[in-house]
Amino acid sequence: MASRLSLISIPNLPTPARTFPKHPQQIPLFSLPPHSFHVNPSFNSRTISSSNGGSSPALHAVQEEVTTSSDSTSDSKTAPSSSSKVVLVIGGTGGVGQLVVASLLNRNIKARLLLRDPEKATTLFGEQDEEKLQVFKGDTRNADDLDPSIFEGVTHVICCTGTTAFPSKRWEGDNTPERVDWEGVRNLVSVLPSSLQRVVLVSSVGVTKFNELPWSIMNLFGVLKYKKMGEDILRNSGLSFTIIRPGRLTDGPYTSYDLNTLLKATAGQRRAVLIGQGDKLVGEVSRLVVAEACIQALDIECTEGKTFEVNSVEGEGPGSDQQKWRELFKAAQAQ
Ligand SMILES: NC(=O)c1ccc[n+]([C@@H]2O[C@H](COP(=O)([O-])OP(=O)(O)OC[C@H]3O[C@@H](n4cnc5c(N)ncnc54)[C@H](OP(=O)(O)O)[C@@H]3O)[C@@H](O)[C@H]2O)c1
Repeated sequence: MASRLSLISIPNLPTPARTFPKHPQQIPLFSLPPHSFHVNPSFNSRTISSSNGGSSPALHAVQEEVTTSSDSTSDSKTAPSSSSKVVLVIGGTGGVGQLVVASLLNRNIKARLLLRDPEKATTLFGEQDEEKLQVFKGDTRNADDLDPSIFEGVTHVICCTGTTAFPSKRWEGDNTPERVDWEGVRNLVSVLPSSLQRVVLVSSVGVTKFNELPWSIMNLFGVLKYKKMGEDILRNSGLSFTIIRPGRLTDGPYTSYDLNTLLKATAGQRRAVLIGQGDKLVGEVSRLVVAEACIQALDIECTEGKTFEVNSVEGEGPGSDQQKWRELFKAAQAQ
């Protein structure tokens, strides 16, 4: 049986306008008091850590998900260690992103994060071996932050950046949909190496209908239009890609500005997965399901070069069973 998830909260940190260094800084997670970090001159990197010993809410949520999906086979419950993969996650502090990172850590897949505020990694993921989790500081809006060294050794990318659809505190410093969903994605796509095995971009349902009601309301400040532009640049990049378009996101962490989402969210029940193509699917989807769809897409060949809408409804789902996800993605293409 699916179990309820404990809600995960992201600290409500302000996003002040700030200047970032021209060259990226790699931040390994080591042992220091929470929220403290220092310059390590010998490695030209900053070292941070927290006292929560790795038992972060996001990790806990993902472990809950894996251990309570009764319809997964025992083999697939604990995905095999993929030491050859190095997955760069952009937006890894966000609602979907932190579940992606936690899930990678849980599977022993090496993760690399590009974060505007690397301290958040410590809060969310606790103490992690540098072999498992590397953190770079950067803002996708600033092309100069996307130094090629960030991508060295990376085999796969999952981009789940975003901001609010409507003006909010999270737009501070000009972090608007135009800057994040369009310029940020464009900057990223333009520097990603062609050797990557897969780039997964989290977009949204409705991006092809931003001029039509009710989508035009959501698009009042351009979020759907800019997400579509971000999709298109990836689609035309020559990179091996998969685009995941979630419906309205549910389940913690409740980072959405949309109060309706907060009120409607039910934790941990929406595990049955619906996948569509052609931007016809309308509904809601658990962030856990979106995170799992992104990770599954990395390895499922038939998702390459494809765009999928993803919803979830109450009921048992595929959990982390790759075969079940493959069937779902295949069935969507057969419709
Ligand atoms: N909410 C919905 O119902 C809904 C529906 C469909 C699709 N989506 C899309 O689904 C995706 C995931 O949504 P979510 O609610 O889980 O995301 P979220 O919590 O809003 O997280 C967004 C992430 O993007 C990062 N980010 C924002 N601006 C950035 C920048 N300039 N440079 C680097 N990173 C930046 C944030 O980092 P910081 O920690 O630095 O802020 C955060 O990690 C988003 O693309 C969202 O638009 C959402």
